[in-house]
Amino acid sequence: MTAPVTVRVRVPASSANLGPGYDAFGLALALYDDFEAVHADAWFLEVSGEGAGELRTDGDNEVARAIQRVFAEVGYTGAARIRCENAIPVGRGLGSSAAAIVGGLLLGNELADAGLSNERLFELGAELEGHPDNVAAALFGGFTVCWRDGDTPRVRRIEPGGGLAAVVALSDAVLPTSEARQALPETVPHEDAAANVARASLVALGVALGDEPMLSAGLHDRIHEPYRAALIPDMAEIRDVLVSSGACGAALSGAGPTVIGLVSGATDDDALVRARGVADTAHARIVATSGNRRIMAVGVERVGTQIVCEG
Ligand code: HSE
Repeated sequence: MTAPVTVRVRVPASSANLGPGYDAFGLALALYDDFEAVHADAWFLEVSGEGAGELRTDGDNEVARAIQRVFAEVGYTGAARIRCENAIPVGRGLGSSAAAIVGGLLLGNELADAGLSNERLFELGAELEGHPDNVAAALFGGFTVCWRDGDTPRVRRIEPGGGLAAVVALSDAVLPTSEARQALPETVPHEDAAANVARASLVALGVALGDEPMLSAGLHDRIHEPYRAALIPDMAEIRDVLVSSGACGAALSGAGPTVIGLVSGATDDDALVRARGVADTAHARIVATSGNRRIMAVGVERVGTQIVCEG
């Protein structure tokens, strides 16, 4: 088979953790980075949209490094010219880094005609990212649950059982995930771990069954959000505003500082209409108290990363 000339991928944003599912849960969101790559003699990137002028444009860019990882896996030598049109805000807890990695892995897989399975690409993505939750949701779409078998990351995708949408309260501030992870203690009290098992089960069941009361009961964390609160002083307030504006529950999105609220409905479209109403109400309340948040309703992405090859 001949490797394609131009490869395009569209990768969704993702929200990891969803409260108690630290490093395990991911939800793909209908906000996308579009990447395009062609073979070239040297690494070169053009970035537009989010991260333009800020992200690297050489072979050390995350997209390029992910392509290189696939090339190394199959002993392929080459470079690529890459265009990135980014809609996912960088460093805010919406999976921009995972999107770059997943995009790069899929581009690399096509450019090198490597034939790696999605499961192997997921393993490589989890290795590059250091945690699997955003990579899983970005690659497979829907709601994902990750765990490890020894050192091997595993994933199971769950189709949300009812209509689901989100409201995100984006912060102006950038919080590197590494910094937000350093804020966590080595160990947590047994009772907090036990509480999280129950709450996380409720979130997974709530998503799978489309059960709003279960989601409301589940979206409470005791093993990472309390420790990150010092880095995100308005987190509790924003969570309360989202819930009192009509979200069934809210949580830190990934490592933050974005806060996400979930909204259910009869269908995804219905949930998105409701989410827009929640966003409008929350916006009016938040602007009055905190000027550095942008409130946005966003749909759930059920399909995951999509790929188009030409030539
Ligand atoms: N599970 C990761 C964390 C997600 O909370 O650090 C980072 O987006």
